[in-house]
Amino acid sequence: MTAGPGGSGFSRRHLLVGGAAAAGAGAAAMLGAQAVAGALARGGDTGADRARPTDATAVGDAVVPFHGTHQAGIETPPQAHARFIALDLRPEVDAAALRRMLRVLSDDAARITQGTAPLADTEPELALAPARLTVTFGFGPGLVERAGGIAPAWLRPLPPFGIDRLRPEWNGGDLLLHVGSDDPVTLAHAARMLLKDARSFATVRWSQHGFRRAAGADASGSTMRNLFGQLDGTVNPVPGTADFDELVWSAGAPEWMTGGTSLVLRRIAMDLDGWDRVDRPGREAAVGRRLGSGAPLTGSREHDEPDFEALTPVGFPVIADFSHLRRSRSDVPGERIFRRGYNYDESPGDGSISDAGLLFASYQADVDRQFVPIQRRLDELDLLNEWTTPIGSAVFAVPPGCAADGYVGETLV
Ligand code: HEM
Repeated sequence: MTAGPGGSGFSRRHLLVGGAAAAGAGAAAMLGAQAVAGALARGGDTGADRARPTDATAVGDAVVPFHGTHQAGIETPPQAHARFIALDLRPEVDAAALRRMLRVLSDDAARITQGTAPLADTEPELALAPARLTVTFGFGPGLVERAGGIAPAWLRPLPPFGIDRLRPEWNGGDLLLHVGSDDPVTLAHAARMLLKDARSFATVRWSQHGFRRAAGADASGSTMRNLFGQLDGTVNPVPGTADFDELVWSAGAPEWMTGGTSLVLRRIAMDLDGWDRVDRPGREAAVGRRLGSGAPLTGSREHDEPDFEALTPVGFPVIADFSHLRRSRSDVPGERIFRRGYNYDESPGDGSISDAGLLFASYQADVDRQFVPIQRRLDELDLLNEWTTPIGSAVFAVPPGCAADGYVGETLV
């Protein structure tokens, strides 16, 4: 991590509470701890406290590069927290204003993800521990139209599905800001900085917070558990492989999307109370995998290949035809997606004890070719539908990344 502005290597906390500690002792000698405390109490800025914390940790200090061929936050191993924020452009925003907005937001993201406070940050201390902060931009159909660009054919709302109970408050949007970090304070601050700089161009349409286990709580590389307790994400393309590149990154069509991808974000409510009433064999049959190990019902380890031909002694398939595993798996090799979902758990406010589910985030080069056929099959038949209900849906074009002298969206605007 690079030092923040004025990076002289000691923090407000050291000055105020750690006078005897090594860094604090030096600082106190230089500035006089009482004088500094007085200046801070009066609201004065000594400049000395705008520094990188000396108490940084491996989690807080970890940085993901912002610049590159692809945007960060997709191949990045998922952070513990994510916020997906959709904005609507103000009516007066034209292509020139869009360009200004994307430049400013890219500049903010480039700084804050590296642990450097963006310009005009009023709480710069909150920017100093990025904890793998990433900011990923996505464009809805409205933004592409405003830019006068050609939209990919798939950039439109998904076709309606019978299982959908979509609520207007979780759908659509012109611009998506997807902010991820292992630290929720950093994340809140980064989101606020971006929204402050976006507010003369756009208004917030919806904001969804998702989480996984805290950084370090699970061995790195483990598959996440969703709130049904299932290992979720076992079968997924592996970032950095040719298979992943082909499935996820757009090879053009339109040209400005080369190196970009698409995001389908579905807010899927999970009926935890109903799930509680199902016994363990029933739960395992619904997916076709064991809850403990995540192994297919025909295997013993998480990554064992399922055997769809295997029969029970009375002649039924061990992995049922209506199971989520059977129904979500395609026989067409290109009909696969990259899932990078998050749990959500909000206060219900309607007398029930939970409003929980999955922010199902799926990345693919082409929504129509890859995502829609899978969702269609699950719509027709999937035992998991008993306990899951899609209540929000949005599709975004995620443009490619940019170089240090560029900005995200430059290929479009
Ligand atoms: C709340 C809703 C959902 C839950 C709880 C859920 C849960 C699971 C679980 C436990 C697995 C097995 C382990 C794994 O490979 O990850 C799985 C696999 C999978 N799910 Fe879902 N899922 C949900 C929604 C969806 C949706 C909406 C789609 C796509 C439209 C989808 C597509 C897939 C795919 C492609 C697999 C891998 C299948 C394979 O083994 O080839 N899931 N899901």
